[in-house]
Amino acid sequence: MLAPIEPFRIKVVEPIKLLDRKQREERIKKANYNIFLISAEDIFIDLLTDSGTSAMSDNQWAGMMVGDESYAGCRNYFHFEKTIKELTGFKHIIPVHQGRVAENLLFSTILSEGDYIPSNNHFDTTRANIESNGGIGVDLVIEEGKHPEVEYPFKGNIDIEKLEAQIKSVGTEKIPLGMITITNNTGGGQPASMENIRQVSETLHKYDIPFFFDAARFAENAYFIKMREKGYADKSIREIAREMFSYADGCTMSAKKDGLANIGGFVAMNDDSWATKLTNKLILIEGYRTYGGLAGRDLEAVARGLEEVTNENYLEYRIKQVKYLGDKLLNYGVPIIKPTGGHAVFVDAGKMIKHIKRENYPAWALTVALYREGGVRSVEIGNVMFGKYDAGQKKEIYPPLDLVRLAIPRRVYTNSQMDYVASVFEKIVSEPKTVKGLRITYQPPFLRHFTCKFEEVE
Ligand SMILES: Cc1ncc(COP(=O)(O)O)c(C=O)c1O
Repeated sequence: MLAPIEPFRIKVVEPIKLLDRKQREERIKKANYNIFLISAEDIFIDLLTDSGTSAMSDNQWAGMMVGDESYAGCRNYFHFEKTIKELTGFKHIIPVHQGRVAENLLFSTILSEGDYIPSNNHFDTTRANIESNGGIGVDLVIEEGKHPEVEYPFKGNIDIEKLEAQIKSVGTEKIPLGMITITNNTGGGQPASMENIRQVSETLHKYDIPFFFDAARFAENAYFIKMREKGYADKSIREIAREMFSYADGCTMSAKKDGLANIGGFVAMNDDSWATKLTNKLILIEGYRTYGGLAGRDLEAVARGLEEVTNENYLEYRIKQVKYLGDKLLNYGVPIIKPTGGHAVFVDAGKMIKHIKRENYPAWALTVALYREGGVRSVEIGNVMFGKYDAGQKKEIYPPLDLVRLAIPRRVYTNSQMDYVASVFEKIVSEPKTVKGLRITYQPPFLRHFTCKFEEVE
């Protein structure tokens, strides 16, 4: 098999520097062992997120120069609208500056107190927007999607039986819409199959419930369908994406992922009356309906990014690069969620770092070690992010998995930089005891991972 390769050549470079070990020690200590609090300039390889971190193409940068900054009716909006209509088939395209605003507009318009929104897994901003509008987000991912060691091609699928049972138990009037996140970020960037998308659509539509996608990584999902699902090998990514969207009534989208842009998003739908309400609210909170909080040049970058992201050579490189890193880690004996997803490798740190007690945050400790050993930034998705103090039991309750996510920005790093990241892991795996547990010395009342402080324990 030929080696995975970048389908682009590099025209502009941004220098990165690896601080020496002593400097890294100083930086992480000064940041109170919280990787969020280190300046990006002091990071060598930044795998904190794949959101808004893409490298734009020469074509997108050229598009920035033809940005039309007119308040109303700028030409870039029409390009943006046309591109998304051709891709999704939806009737109304409403621009926003990022995905969570799409969620906010949608849920603040359609939800009533106590309504339910089923999905495979809601991303955290989606859940927060549902809950802050009085709704209840319900996760109905299939059982295989909950087990990191289980190899299954579509771990992002929704359990259809559970979906039907949910509808019957709460009643159709309590479910203003159903969703699916493609790919399923919370579940490890795992895709949903076309068959499952079709079944979810049929089930919801049987009860007259609209169906929306969280489409942030729709192109990566379409590529997995092409590779893994019978009947799709000879279809183009555009055809697959078009078919996926044909089963839905609308979507929310963060263009900071598969829009290949640094900012942007949209909400799209067929329903005229919802679209009118959302547009009125858009003007109140984001901006006029032809720019939605974005500059004309940003709309152009997203339009061009959405045209580029369905390129098969690009997607092959993208998905193979993630797998390339995952396979290297497996070779070094690092436990990861299998199979690798579309945008990130998830390391099962709870399994990898066994000498640290749960209350001393093994996955968080691994993020510190990755920086200390090699200047690599990752993110903990585990005991710190999701741990909650239970007053009754007088202790913290932890999530089932204590993970470290290595999210790979699009078109940013080469495979030799992935080799480097893997070599940092190789070093840590060979001397796991060098990873030190942590104790929290300060934490805010919510979203503690962003700002909490730690000290190391022996
Ligand atoms: C699946 C999914 N939905 C929604 C969002 C929110 O998008 P944004 O960060 O653009 O607000 C994200 C961001 O990471 C995401 O991964």
